[in-house]
Amino acid sequence: MPLEDELGDILQKARDGKSWSREDLVRETGLPEDDIRQIENYQLTPDDSVVLKLAKALDLDGPTLIDIAQERWIPQEPSRDPEFDLICLNVFMGEYPVNCFLLRCNATGETAVVDTGANPKTIIDKAHEMGVRPKMILLTHAHPDHAGGLGELDNAFDCPTYIDHNEPKPKGSRNFKTIRDGDEIALGKLRIRCLETPGHTVGGVSYLINQTLISGDVIFAGSMGRANSSWNDLFHSITQKVLRLPDATGLHPGHGPATTVGQEKEHNPFFLGRLG
Ligand SMILES: [Fe+2]
Repeated sequence: MPLEDELGDILQKARDGKSWSREDLVRETGLPEDDIRQIENYQLTPDDSVVLKLAKALDLDGPTLIDIAQERWIPQEPSRDPEFDLICLNVFMGEYPVNCFLLRCNATGETAVVDTGANPKTIIDKAHEMGVRPKMILLTHAHPDHAGGLGELDNAFDCPTYIDHNEPKPKGSRNFKTIRDGDEIALGKLRIRCLETPGHTVGGVSYLINQTLISGDVIFAGSMGRANSSWNDLFHSITQKVLRLPDATGLHPGHGPATTVGQEKEHNPFFLGRLG
């Protein structure tokens, strides 16, 4: 699976963090506006010296940004946890894939869906193939690409849907259960800890099972989510919560490949050197 974000996405998100327009970036770097526009639109891969100049202006780590611009880094998969199966399913909204998950406790077979996608037939088919009937739906957030299929799954599985108390409730569930930071949800022998990780949305939440975090659109391998509610909250969620977990913790984002806390601390240009 390729990285979710290319150089152009990272630059736009870093500009967003400084509330800079493209003109501000032109002024700070002295680079031609047309070059920056083409770089942000994926039409131009700049020389390393230009990437370093952009990184310096935007408080990004230069060497790791070059690795991503040159497509030289891809994360290694986190190790599996013997206590559960985590099946990642690509569910499409148009041509745009979202990672949804089936989480099954190996001791009891009890299963949860994490995020529904917009068209969740893939999830329903996979649950049938596995011979499981999910007993809960966990939402990382309410965006349509992650929660648009809630009504279809609610009809198929008739089970409660968990969502953070700060997140607007999407349509489709007859049985919402609201959660708060630190809450624990039991799934068979598993304990799923809810970590509020706002910033992409106001009530974004990540789910921690042992050393596995299902994190929605908070952090991507080599990048971060789009700050739809607050860039500072999102940066804080990542630097003070997600990247404070043990290095071996697996991160399973809503888009792009899985990674680990340790790999993001070494390869993510937003956070290298900024964890204090
Ligand atoms: Fe989202």
